[in-house]
Amino acid sequence: MRIAMIGSGYVGLVTGTCMSEFGFDVVCVDKDAAKIAALKDGEIPIFEPGLADLVQTNAESGRLTFSTDLATSVADADAVFIAVGTPSRHGDGFADLSYVYAAAEELAPALRGYTVVVDKSTVPVGTGREVAGIIRKAAPNADFDVVSNPEFLREGSAINDFMRPDRVVVGAETERAEGLMEEVYRPLFLHETPIMMTTLETAELTKYAANAFLAAKVTFINEIAALCEIVGADVQDVARGMGLDGRIGAKFLHAGPGFGGSCFPKDTLALAAQGQKAGSPMSIVEAVVQANDSRKVAMGEKIIAACGGSVEGKTIAVLGLTFKPNTDDMRAAPSLVIVPALQAAGATVRAYDPEGMGEAKELLAHVTWCDDAYDAMDGADALVIITEWNAFRSLDLDRATQLLKSPIMVDLRNIYSPEEMAAAGFEYTSIGRPDTKPAAQPRSVTSGGA
Ligand code: UGA
Repeated sequence: MRIAMIGSGYVGLVTGTCMSEFGFDVVCVDKDAAKIAALKDGEIPIFEPGLADLVQTNAESGRLTFSTDLATSVADADAVFIAVGTPSRHGDGFADLSYVYAAAEELAPALRGYTVVVDKSTVPVGTGREVAGIIRKAAPNADFDVVSNPEFLREGSAINDFMRPDRVVVGAETERAEGLMEEVYRPLFLHETPIMMTTLETAELTKYAANAFLAAKVTFINEIAALCEIVGADVQDVARGMGLDGRIGAKFLHAGPGFGGSCFPKDTLALAAQGQKAGSPMSIVEAVVQANDSRKVAMGEKIIAACGGSVEGKTIAVLGLTFKPNTDDMRAAPSLVIVPALQAAGATVRAYDPEGMGEAKELLAHVTWCDDAYDAMDGADALVIITEWNAFRSLDLDRATQLLKSPIMVDLRNIYSPEEMAAAGFEYTSIGRPDTKPAAQPRSVTSGGA
């Protein structure tokens, strides 16, 4: 089996590398010559735990190669995966399909022998059929089928998600295409992964429905958290009480500063746009988009309130900037709304993130970039945790209170327990739980709890 992966971004690189680990010959193609040259030199353009090692071993074995030459790569392939970006189109939220269509046009004349063209990018319903039309027009004699095979892997745990998925969804129109896709995913049969064969349209919509549902789940618990703060309930317990119901499930009920990343924000917008276009509005998804935008704004206000109602002239230490831990991805990160809001209210921000600062420096201005968490706290009036990196879960709280001018902590991910923070001498504000004041006699505490 020979596989060509068009697009060596996040999805293409992870998918291609894992497929070479399955034992297939994979060539990852990209137009970006600098990226391909770097990959050939063993440099990985993204931070993803475990990926660098896997690229190295498979590249050394000769099963994983990198190329800018799309035509040659496609000619040899049994399956050509399209894994290019589908960003939100400015103005209307629709997915921008120009990269997908350009890839289809370019690959069509290069096809040799029967080839399955697999849409891996997240694309609106109808795109697979459109891609088939483009290829047929550009290469009327080509022997091919178009398949939709959405990906469900998460940044930060992408390798494990690929190797042990909950399911594989394949939208195919012919038995020949189904057979080839079964061959591609045969290694997962060992784990008895359910492989679902369906139509193109169903596969395409399944991906949007899954992401929008998860985004709604996060947004729901965030709204419950806001209500908890007003009525004096504890969102962690509410989430547990809900999640133990097997019909609901405990996952994605962790309240926080709002979802970000490259997928939920763009896919919720795109599904809402598809609903409008089809005359079948996705009113829940539209509300999710709005509520999540407001959530990020509310987080800035929450921090200001925790600082006594004003941050004018104050210094705020911010820990964690990426949209979630174990990634360097800053796309739609809550920090991109929160940090400018604090600055607009007159604060100086000292920030630290284990992996995201390279990208953050391009996106956030006038921030003092720090070497580690304690450097960020040095002389600050308050400490804010935006992203729950493991490195922030067991801070030396004695040292933190000594470094901070006032022991105020705003924990937007609930990685500490209110009681413990009170005992450590903090004025502690978290998400959906009562604020706590320092205990009368602070005792020495060195590690986090939750
Ligand atoms: C998401 C989906 O989980 C994947 O299944 C999907 O393949 C991927 O999008 C995609 O379409 O490519 P990802 O964006 O990597 O994956 O990140 P998630 O782990 O889903 O987190 C998304 C956002 O929700 C983050 O900002 C995270 O902090 C937030 N979140 C998640 C919460 O605030 N609470 C939770 O309980 C879970």
